[in-house]
Amino acid sequence: MSLDICLVGFGAIGALYACALERSSKARVTAVCRSNYETIREHGLEIVSDRLGKIPSWKPHRVVRTVAEAADRPYTFIVCAMKCVPEVIKTTHILRPLLQKLSDSPATAIVLLQNGIGIEDDFLEWLDRHNLGNNVISGCAWVDTTAVNEGKTVTQSGSERLVLGYHRPAPSLVNLTGKFSEDIAKKQLDLLCTLLRDGSTNPEPVTDIDAARWHKILWNASFSTLCTLTRATVGDVLAVDSARTSLADIMLEVLSVAHASLSPSSSATLPDSVRFDIIRHENPKSVFKPSMLVDLEAGRPMEVEAIVGGVLKRARAVGVQVPRLELIYAGLSVLQKDLLRRRNAQS
Ligand SMILES: NC(=O)c1ccc[n+]([C@@H]2O[C@H](COP(=O)([O-])OP(=O)(O)OC[C@H]3O[C@@H](n4cnc5c(N)ncnc54)[C@H](OP(=O)(O)O)[C@@H]3O)[C@@H](O)[C@H]2O)c1
Repeated sequence: MSLDICLVGFGAIGALYACALERSSKARVTAVCRSNYETIREHGLEIVSDRLGKIPSWKPHRVVRTVAEAADRPYTFIVCAMKCVPEVIKTTHILRPLLQKLSDSPATAIVLLQNGIGIEDDFLEWLDRHNLGNNVISGCAWVDTTAVNEGKTVTQSGSERLVLGYHRPAPSLVNLTGKFSEDIAKKQLDLLCTLLRDGSTNPEPVTDIDAARWHKILWNASFSTLCTLTRATVGDVLAVDSARTSLADIMLEVLSVAHASLSPSSSATLPDSVRFDIIRHENPKSVFKPSMLVDLEAGRPMEVEAIVGGVLKRARAVGVQVPRLELIYAGLSVLQKDLLRRRNAQS
């Protein structure tokens, strides 16, 4: 029997993992497509991936245009793979037609394949407010993938790793805490990992997803932001000594917030030296442009709040000074304001 999975945001990450889920032969995906709806329906998608191989034309089981259209059946997983840009619209708002059906689907887990710090909070608060006990799983993708050719092709180069874990609700979310079952959450996580593994990708279940999110944000808050502010590739940034030093210094600020936010055992998984491992792991000749820069160049809103704003919010909450990140946030906010002004002028 095939499990029904709904995926909202059929871009680079969404298409890659939707394809893997269907390749498991145990799942069928309803993909909510926006600008690429006609293309995918008519021609399918070309995938050129070091992990999945070259697939000339692939279509998910069902392609729909809106979330409301997708909300006609229960799903085992609802996967969010669009950019997280709460300064434009909250993800919970985009998913509302699906979320409103959750009272009939207590077994549905929500999966956030998105970058950011604290991006799960809106979901956990929404579930608590509506007295629902659905689980929220986060995925941190260590992969370079891009939708190109007007969304007709998704490319993925190099290694691919998807770190996945479920969120335990904070005690302040009384309703959700009362309904939370570690056993059910673990089974859902195991099922998701099995599907992805059977679909030839590389899922890695972890018990501490908060630490994994901080680990991932180290890359985004440093590489993504510096590449975007300088409109340079990863390789271009790595080629300049002062920029390499800045990458490490920015990551040290993020680590100081992470250490003040996480439990001692979680903190211990993120030693200060991890920033040098992250820098060393990058190919000095990489021509990769982080998706934040791709968005800037395409005139689309960037994930400024989710990636930098989320860290700043935590920094204020735990009383840690982060002057480099404040400067980065200011610079990106200027660019974001201009992007949103142009976008509003067009609509
Ligand atoms: N790309 C990477 O290598 C990578 C690696 C790790 C993590 N991530 C994270 O993964 C997430 C997704 O990134 P991505 O690179 O895959 O983004 P992407 O290629 O820009 O794809 C996002 C997709 O979501 C769609 N979308 C946006 N809002 C929507 C809505 N309201 N309803 C339906 N579809 C909607 C977009 O449609 P339109 O074309 O109409 O805008 C687009 O097809 C982000 O949080 C990113 O930071 C990306």
